[in-house]
Amino acid sequence: MSELNKIALKILSNGKGILAADESNGTMTKRLDSVAVPSTSENRLLFRETLFSSEGMKKCIGGVILYDETIKQISKSKKTVPELIYEAGAVPGIKVDTGVKVLAGSPEEKITEGLDGLRERLEEYYKLGARFTKWRGVYNISNKYPSKLSIHSNAHALARYSALVQECGMVPIVEPEVLMDGNHSAEDCFNKTSEVIRKCFEELTLHKIDLSGIILKPNMILAGANSDKKISNEETAKLTLKCLKENVPPNVPGIAFLSGGQTEVGATENLNLINKYNDTNFIMTYSYGRALQQSALKFWSKDITNVEGTQKVFNHRASMCTLAAQGKWSVELEGQ
Ligand code: 13P
Repeated sequence: MSELNKIALKILSNGKGILAADESNGTMTKRLDSVAVPSTSENRLLFRETLFSSEGMKKCIGGVILYDETIKQISKSKKTVPELIYEAGAVPGIKVDTGVKVLAGSPEEKITEGLDGLRERLEEYYKLGARFTKWRGVYNISNKYPSKLSIHSNAHALARYSALVQECGMVPIVEPEVLMDGNHSAEDCFNKTSEVIRKCFEELTLHKIDLSGIILKPNMILAGANSDKKISNEETAKLTLKCLKENVPPNVPGIAFLSGGQTEVGATENLNLINKYNDTNFIMTYSYGRALQQSALKFWSKDITNVEGTQKVFNHRASMCTLAAQGKWSVELEGQ
């Protein structure tokens, strides 16, 4: 078993999942604005530290994705954030892309940037304690999109990123996110997501990536948010499994889904069904941002000194997701 495979398994095994706390300062400011809390670096740390020192963190979270600001912050207890995460038994990770820009040649689409100087940044993050990383490519669905150009260029960037990350001794999360925005059907989502994932693995293979040392972070198969042809959770689970079975090489150890705008309970229910029907060897777990933090953030915003109360809300959400990662969740447990 390679070192990278061991790290991936440590993050994903036993129902554990990933807390995606890597919102950029811009995105975190939007989240804090929405609950009327000033977006200062102190407040951003305070909320995150509240989650990182919770029971739910110890019991449920195998890895945390951090943002550049957070990985360098010192907590109230004078420990660095990566130290706090290791203490809770989880692995610190870091978002290393620098965001999306308009794709030249197809201006309605996006390309993810951040390859320049990446080798050097990775060395710095490794020294700070990171052992895994994240890079997100984004794709929009419409009649024309995603284009071949977007599918190809984002896959190429994901592969170049992965090669540098593995060279530095870390596990790359490969995140090709086909967005839920739009009125497309679930069938469109299935077809486009399949094409996107297939191309990613073609490029990863070309760039000699050790596939046993990556984590795939895909979207689930859903109809567009504005579609009037929504599908059931059962259908989402079955189509998601079919898409992954057909397009992900079997030596990939695990798949950690993004929540992508689903509700907290919706993202939990879909993950639970995916695990109920999972007839693959892939670990299927979560790497949720909003679907793990939304309620906790709302609660916290009413009194940002209420650590215990906020942790209680987070503990509940994390434990529901961890049950879902084992196919043991049921809606009755939500009411407790
Ligand atoms: P959401 O679960 O909120 O989609 O965030 C996950 C993530 O890391 C997106 O890049």
